[in-house]
Amino acid sequence: MRSGEALLLFVWMHCLLTFCGVLASSDLPAIRTTAGNRTNFNDIESKFALRTPEELEEDTCYLVPGHKETIDQCNFNHTSKTFVVIHGWTLTGLYESWVPKLVGALYKREPHSNVIVVDWLAKAQQHYHISAGYTKSVGQHVASFIDWLEETFNYPVDNIHILGYSLGAHAAGVAGSLTKNKVNRITGLDPAGPSFEYAENSVTLSPDDAEFVDVLHTYTRGSPDRSIGIQKPVGHVDIYPNGGIFQPGCNFGDTLRLIATSGFYDMDQIVKCSHERAIHLFIDSLLYEEKPSMAYRCNSKEAFEKGLCLSCRKNRCNTLGYQVNKVRGKRSNKMYLKTTAQMPFKVFHYQVKVHFFGKKNLTVTDQPLLVSLYGTRGESENIAITLPEIATNKTYSFLVYTEVDIGDLLRLTLKWKKDSIFSWSDWFTTYSYSIQKVRVKSGEFQKKQVFCSEDGNHASFTRGQDAAVFLKCKEHSVMKKKI
Ligand SMILES: *[C@@H]1O[C@H](CO)[C@@H](O)[C@H](O)[C@H]1NC(C)=O
Ligand SMILES: *[C@@H]1O[C@H](CO)[C@@H](O)[C@H](O)[C@H]1NC(C)=O
Repeated sequence: MRSGEALLLFVWMHCLLTFCGVLASSDLPAIRTTAGNRTNFNDIESKFALRTPEELEEDTCYLVPGHKETIDQCNFNHTSKTFVVIHGWTLTGLYESWVPKLVGALYKREPHSNVIVVDWLAKAQQHYHISAGYTKSVGQHVASFIDWLEETFNYPVDNIHILGYSLGAHAAGVAGSLTKNKVNRITGLDPAGPSFEYAENSVTLSPDDAEFVDVLHTYTRGSPDRSIGIQKPVGHVDIYPNGGIFQPGCNFGDTLRLIATSGFYDMDQIVKCSHERAIHLFIDSLLYEEKPSMAYRCNSKEAFEKGLCLSCRKNRCNTLGYQVNKVRGKRSNKMYLKTTAQMPFKVFHYQVKVHFFGKKNLTVTDQPLLVSLYGTRGESENIAITLPEIATNKTYSFLVYTEVDIGDLLRLTLKWKKDSIFSWSDWFTTYSYSIQKVRVKSGEFQKKQVFCSEDGNHASFTRGQDAAVFLKCKEHSVMKKKI
C-alpha cells in the first residue's frame, strides 16, 4: 500500500507536469485551418490495423490504402459494418488498456464486423498542443482510407461507424468532414477540450461530420479553457453523465481504495478515470444490451437534479451508447443521467415530489433525508438526499436513483435525519411538518404514481423521528393532477 501510494503520487505529479500542466496555460495556440488537400497515399502516416476477436491486444494485420491485396490478407468482411477506433493523446506512446476492451466489446456485440484501430501513436505522444495539431492530418488520413475503401471496393460508407476518444474524437470529426460521402455515425468519447473549446467546426467534432454524431461528456471540470473534456455540445445528441463534470468512483481516495482491494495498478485509470469513463460507458452499452442506460434532455443539470426532466415525450429521452436512437434535432440536445461507479452503470431514476404542510411558518436549509423505495421486484433503502430548502406549505421536487430494478413501486418511506452536530435550537424548535401525499415519476418506466400516508391522512414528518410511510393511494383518493 505504501509503495502503491508513492507510485500514484509519482503518476499524479507526472500528469501535472505534462497533460494537466498544459491545461493550466491559457494561451493555447489556435490550430491552423488548411484547405482540405487530398492526401497522397504515400503521405498517410497513420496505420489501420484490422484486429480480430482472437487478437484483441495486437496489431497483426494492416490495411494499407493503395494496396488492395491487404484487404484480403486481413480478411476484411465486405458485407459487414466497420468500426474505426481512434485513440487520443498518450503519455507512454503505447496503446492504453481500454483499446482491447473496446475492440473486444465491439466484436462481442457485432461478431462479423471489422474493427479497425487507427495507430497514430508516434504523433500522439508529443507535447499536448503538438499532438492536438496533428488531429487534422490524422483526420485526413482516415478520410483517405475511407474514400479508398468506398472507391476501390464499393464498400458503403453507410456501414462505417467511427469512434474517437479525447483528441481522437476531433480527428474523427475532421475525417467525417473530408470523406466524399458522409459516414453513418461518429461517436465522440469525451472529446478533448484544450485547444478545441473555442475552435471552429472544421477542426473539432461537429454534427455535420456524419449522418449522426453522438457524444459522451464525462470530464468537463473547471472553466472551459481548462477542462479536459470539451464542454460545449458538438453532436446531434450530447450526453453528460452525472452532470458531465466528474464521475463517481473517480476521486483520489476511491482509486486508492480500489487499488488496495484489487491489488493491481492500472495507471491510466488513476489519472484519467473520469475522462476515460466515456469509453467504459460505451463498452457497457455494448456488453449489457439488456441494461441500457437512459439519458434525459434537460436545460440544466440543476433542473435534472430536481428530477424535473424525466420525460420521454417527443424524443426527450434516449439510450446511451451503441443503441442510441438517432435523433437529429435542429439544435443540439444536452442530455443527463446518473450512473453507478462501476459496470454495469445503469440506474433507475425517480422524481419525488412532496408538499410540506405546517401550522406555523418554518424554513430550514440543507436538510438530510433518507428515502427508501420498495417495489415488486426489490427494494432500495436509505438513499441519502440533501434538500437545499424546506419551507411550510411549499412543494419540493428532487431526484432519487437506484441501482436495482425494484419493479413496480409499492411503498416508500421518508426519514428526516438530525444534523450530526448538536444544535441548541433543537431544544426550542419543533422541526416538524406533515405530508399527505408523495408523487413519484419513474424515468425508466415512464410511470406516475401517487402515494398516500399509511393512515390515509397526514403523516408526521419530524426531524430525528421514525420514517413517514406511504402506500399506493386507493383509487378514489388519487387526485387526477399532473405531477
Ligand atoms: C461476413 O459477414 C456476414 C454478416 O454481415 C456473415 O454472414 C459472413 O459469414 C461473414 N463472412 C465471413 C467470411 O466471416
Ligand atoms: C398551510 O396550509 C394549511 C391548509 O392548507 C393551513 O391550515 C395552514 O394554516 C397553512 N400554514 C401556514 C403557516 O400558513
